[in-house]
Amino acid sequence: MAKNTLTIIDNRTGKQYEIPVEDDTIRAIDLRQIKVSEQDFGLMAYDPAFTNTASCRSKITYIDGDKGILRYRGYPIEELAEKSTYLETAYLIVKGELPDSKHLQAWRNNITIHTMVHENIKKFMEGFRYDAHPMGILVSTVGALSTFYPEAKNIFDLETRRLETRRLIGKMPTIAAYAYRLSRGLPYVYPDNELSYTGNFLSMLFRMTESKYKPNPVLERALDVLFILHADHEQNCSTNAMRSVGSSQVDPYSATAAAVAALYGPLHGGANEQVVRMLEEIGSVKRVPEIIKQVKAGERLLMGFGHRIYKSYDPRAKIVKRVAYEVFDVTGRNPLIDIAVELERIALQDDYFVSRKLYPNVDFYSGIIYQAMGFPTRMFPVLFAIPRTSGWISHWAEMVRDPEQKIARPRQIYIGENMRHWVPIEQRSEPVMREDAVSDSI
Ligand code: SDX
Repeated sequence: MAKNTLTIIDNRTGKQYEIPVEDDTIRAIDLRQIKVSEQDFGLMAYDPAFTNTASCRSKITYIDGDKGILRYRGYPIEELAEKSTYLETAYLIVKGELPDSKHLQAWRNNITIHTMVHENIKKFMEGFRYDAHPMGILVSTVGALSTFYPEAKNIFDLETRRLETRRLIGKMPTIAAYAYRLSRGLPYVYPDNELSYTGNFLSMLFRMTESKYKPNPVLERALDVLFILHADHEQNCSTNAMRSVGSSQVDPYSATAAAVAALYGPLHGGANEQVVRMLEEIGSVKRVPEIIKQVKAGERLLMGFGHRIYKSYDPRAKIVKRVAYEVFDVTGRNPLIDIAVELERIALQDDYFVSRKLYPNVDFYSGIIYQAMGFPTRMFPVLFAIPRTSGWISHWAEMVRDPEQKIARPRQIYIGENMRHWVPIEQRSEPVMREDAVSDSI
């Protein structure tokens, strides 16, 4: 009868060990018993960037990267994008089940009453330069929220976690819209709680002198679908940051600020901004072969392509591409889509990309839509951060409640100097600039 164990023979000692296998995984700590002597620390697993390391058990999102499957709490992303709304999906991600109409209405009210932010946030924001990147503003302002809600530190109190969840989901669009209005030198627009989550966001962004903003229903729905697609994605870089920073038992606003910072990077949520900058630089379909050549020569990345988990087409990218044409029916066609489609066409038949299983990811087409909707390029990662807040706060709460979790503190392989002793300065020679040292021109 097959046993759920690994038998490991340490050829250094000839000793044999039996390691349990659970959920197709071994516990790294079980390697520590493998030693060459009693004084030995024991074996560790080395996994830079955690390419093959599970950090937690989670019930929130399931991804099968080979089959291109993405499910929130078991529901396929395709069904949620077609039939759900972002707020309903956020309830599902946070609570674990789809709401009935009573609970959905209560959830909508509970989020809506938290869309306002403290008036001091405006003064705080005015400290930024006019050209401050809105993600820099978002990182800082979300972190500053922790000073307005000191009670958020009571992370083991369920009602406190529930209140901070509603506050964060409710306030992210307001902070994002304020950052946009600040960059345009426009007055802030207060939330209109009679509108939908995305309708209110569009109102806070784009309302001018009209007494009540009327969102275009096609654009409102398109943004809602995009928010659904971006709501969670298991242990991505920013969610890992949320869990890791949250593991010190800091408040959820400070942990969310860390998650926003991680998302800002061009390899993560910042990619949607970089894709459009890349497409604008390419400028014409005629230049696509030249760009593909540069990518294959290792001179640049094809932004919006590739994924740590998806080794097939990102299921979200398929939906985003469809939404693009629905938006263009209202906004007019964004010509960048022709360059993106040609890049995809060539890449999907070129062995460099096929052999590395590089396909369009969620960021490849989303920026083209945001641009067509009138968002400035720098706002694109902010449009990723808003919906991902429901994922971040759900993983944070799952981490807080998980009895297996404790403060995240990885080990390392030390490759530095052996012990050496301090020497008076007059006895020192010119420091040797090692290859990893900062340049001696400092
Ligand atoms: C998101 O993790 C998530 O779930 C993230 C996300 C979410 O919802 O939270 O899905 C959102 O962040 C999507 C990814 C957005 N980023 C980009 O589009 C930036 C461009 N993509 C790459 O930087 C890259 O594909 C990553 C960062 C997305 C994934 O990197 P990996 O898994 O570390 O892959 P890798 O760098 O080891 O690449 C494997 C090979 C390498 O070539 P070789 O060294 O084997 O010759 O593929 C090459 C890479 O050079 N490669 C690319 C490429 N991505 C990988 N070559 C050209 N263009 C690319 N985009």
